[in-house]
Formats: sequence, structure tokens, C-alpha cells
Amino acid sequence: MDDIAKDKFSILLVGSDEIMFKSLTEVLQREGYEVVTTRSGQEAIDLVKNRYFNLVVTDVNLSDGRDNIEVSRLIKESKKGLKTIVIFSDQNLNEDIYLRLKIANVDDYIFKPFSQEYFLHIVEKNLKLFQMELKLVEKTNDLTLLFDIGRELSSSLKLDEVLFTLVERICDVLAIERCSIVLLDETKDELYIAAAKGLPEEIILNTRIKIGHKISGWVFENKIPVLVDNIEMDPRFAKENEEKYYTGSFISVPLVFKEKVIGVINLNNKRSRQVFNEEDLRLIISIAGEAAIAIENAKLYISLERFYLQVISTLTSIIELKDHYTKGHSDRVTRYAVFLAETMGLSKAEVEIIKLACQLHDLGKIGIHDYILTKPAKLNEEEWKEIRLHPVKAVEMLKPLTFLKEEIKLIQQHHERYDGQGYPNGLNADQIDLKARIIAVVDSFDAMTTERPYARALTIEEAKEELRKNIGKQFDPNVVEVFIQLLEQNPDFFRKDS
Ligand SMILES: [Fe+2]
Repeated sequence: MDDIAKDKFSILLVGSDEIMFKSLTEVLQREGYEVVTTRSGQEAIDLVKNRYFNLVVTDVNLSDGRDNIEVSRLIKESKKGLKTIVIFSDQNLNEDIYLRLKIANVDDYIFKPFSQEYFLHIVEKNLKLFQMELKLVEKTNDLTLLFDIGRELSSSLKLDEVLFTLVERICDVLAIERCSIVLLDETKDELYIAAAKGLPEEIILNTRIKIGHKISGWVFENKIPVLVDNIEMDPRFAKENEEKYYTGSFISVPLVFKEKVIGVINLNNKRSRQVFNEEDLRLIISIAGEAAIAIENAKLYISLERFYLQVISTLTSIIELKDHYTKGHSDRVTRYAVFLAETMGLSKAEVEIIKLACQLHDLGKIGIHDYILTKPAKLNEEEWKEIRLHPVKAVEMLKPLTFLKEEIKLIQQHHERYDGQGYPNGLNADQIDLKARIIAVVDSFDAMTTERPYARALTIEEAKEELRKNIGKQFDPNVVEVFIQLLEQNPDFFRKDS
């Protein structure tokens, strides 16, 4: 049995035949196995509960007179995976004994007298089986893990989240301290660390690797996974070890999507301090397959999102072109709303939603007749009716973009009034999202302080007065209060030429 490490196996011999067990112990020890002996069945049962054995051999003669099949059954029950062999002195086993052997799940049996070679053969056969079954269990565990990781990855489309999940799960699954995912920066044709665990921030931010250079660059270029026991001793990489964060044993595998390498996963520092083995390599190669798909999906989603947002921002500038009085309006409303929202303590995520909603809030005006948008006089009731459709028109345009769900809600609500007299749905007070109440105040403020064909621009003082007059009517009192404080503390920020 050349392919198993015998010193890792522990065998328990149970029986009162001292002469026989002395010679069997010698044979097994000579082969390098660890051997423990005990005379009684009960002692064996107790020993197995407290110590790790791979194999228990139980003779028919036990000092406490117990039945060796029964003892084997109890031992087998108490330790999953352990192998049991029983020794009989009578070759003529009846049906009843065969049945009991089966029920007790005994792995093998031998009859006295037997040669030492035969005994050794039976022991090795069972230990090999033990090892194979253990591998099978590990494989099943690996498959379960792979399935879990795959499911987790497919539930997220955000690249950052996908990468974070990957490094976290890889570190858990392979019990390692360091993992990094290196991706290709296509604009510079070099690799950068897109996500990592266990590496100093400074290395994550500053590392740039040329294709073909260092370990990651080599794996990227050659599309070949690498498992190294000791980097200092490996002639391929010893002099390449400029990535100083690598120590000792490491694995580096390419991330391949549709035959194209998109990056590299690097693993280092097993928590057990052992070197990586082929099993680890096989597992990470399977994970890398799933990872590449998830990363590409997330990248595709990002580029689609970017594309949509570009289209949208082009549309917004078209409105501003149609109505040159509104030039810069969306940008100013965005700046003001972000400042106000941050001051009011809204979360980073909420501020991001406000930002985009402000950029797009008047998108619906694209569907309003030019003559109304640019009319150099006050609008009549019919024209106002059409203008009031712009939030709903924007919602219709943006609805297919499901990733803008939150923003769309704010755009729909930005002309609602605190007293319920606004449009399109006549919502009031808390029925209107706080973020939309914030946009309403800064949107009106910017309109007031911008020159219109039919009205001059108000000064900041006059605009403050106008806002105050509309507290509890058009505007949320609390939002106006904070906004006026901001206006007073930062007048330069709100001047048109700032
Ligand atoms: Fe509007």
C-alpha cells in the first residue's frame, strides 16, 4: 500500500489471546501503523469513544466474555467511517451469524489460523477502503459547497458584491488566510487586485502586474493553474517572487470565461500551516469556473447600466437644450439636494438615489411641446395641464429600467406638495418619500433663483422668504428649516456662479 501514509493510521486490536496479538502487533508496527491493544470488549467500546482509530480488529475470545459481533456493532455505531474486522475460530458460520454480521455492519472477517501476510492483506484492504470513502465524503462536501457558492454568486449582479462573496467564501472553504482576485484592466493591459482578503490595503491599491510578469501575470498569460509547495524553492518562480506577500505554499489559477482569461485567483497561507494539495487545486479550479461566469455577468450588467445612464444623461441635456432657461438646472438641483440630504443625515445609499433622481427629475419634459417649454409668457391652464404630465411621462420612459426603481419613485413624487395639493397623485406629508420632499424644496429654490421668460430671478433672501411662506403648504417644514440654515451658513455654495 504505497499510496497511503501508514503512520497516520491507528489500529485497535481487541482480544484475550495474548500470544496472537503480540505477534500481530509486531507485524503491524513493523509496517508503520500505530497499534493499541485491549483485552475486553467493554474497554474497546470505551476506548473508541475517546480516541481516534481507523480500524478495530475484534477476536472471538474477549476477556469479559462479550460477543465480538455485538462489540463491533457498538463500536461501528459510535464512530462513523471506522472499519471493523472480526476474527472467528470456527470456519463453519451458520446463517444466523452471517445475518448478524450484516446487521452489525462488520466490514470483514477472518478465520483462525491465518498467516501474518493474509492478516496484513485484509488490514490494508480495509484501510484503503476507509481512505477512499473519506475522499468520497470530502468530494460530496465540495460539491455541496460549490453549489452553495454558485447560488450565492448568481443572486448578486453587483461586481463588488460578487468579488467580496468570492474571496470570503474561498477563504472559508479552503481554510486559508489570504486570497486575492486579480483582474485585467483592459485600458492599460495590466492586472490589478480587484478584491482580496488578508492583504494590506496598500498592496491592494498599488499593485499593478504586467501580463507575463510575476506569478499572476504568468498564470494569466499561460492559462495554466499553478500549485507550488514552497515558492522559494521553485525554480519557476523563486526569482519572480516580487509579489512579496506570497509565502511558502500557494495556488494560482486562471479565471477563464469562454476560453478567454479574465483574471487570476491566488490562494496563500493555509490556516493549518500545511501545504496545498491536489484536492485544494481541483476545488479552486471548479470554483474559478463559477467565479468567472459571475464576474462577467456583473461586468456586463455594469456596462449595460452605464450605457443606459449615458443615454439618459444625453436625453436630459436635450431638454436643457430645448429650454435654455433650464440650462444647468439638473446639475444644480443635484448639488443642492445632495448637500441638504447629507446634512439631514441620510445614508450614503439614499444620497446616491437622490443624486440620480435629481439628474433625471425633469426627463419627462422631453415629451412636452417646445412652444410650452419656451413660451416667453405665463402659461395658460391648458399649457399647465401639459406641463404637469412631465413626472408621469418620465416614469413611463424609465419604467423598463428596473434598477432605477427607487429613483423613479422620487421623480414621480417631486411635484407632490406637503398639503396634498400637488401632482400627479395628491400625496401629502409622510406619504411623500422624504427624499422627494428634499428634491421638491431645492428644485423650487433653483427655479425661483433662475431668470425665467416671464419672471426675474429672486435673490437668495427673497427665495428664503418664499420658501418660508410655503412651509406646511408646498414644503415639508423640517426640510425647509434645515435648507434655510444651509443657505445662511453657506451662501456662496448656492450662488449661481459658484
Ligand atoms: Fe419638475
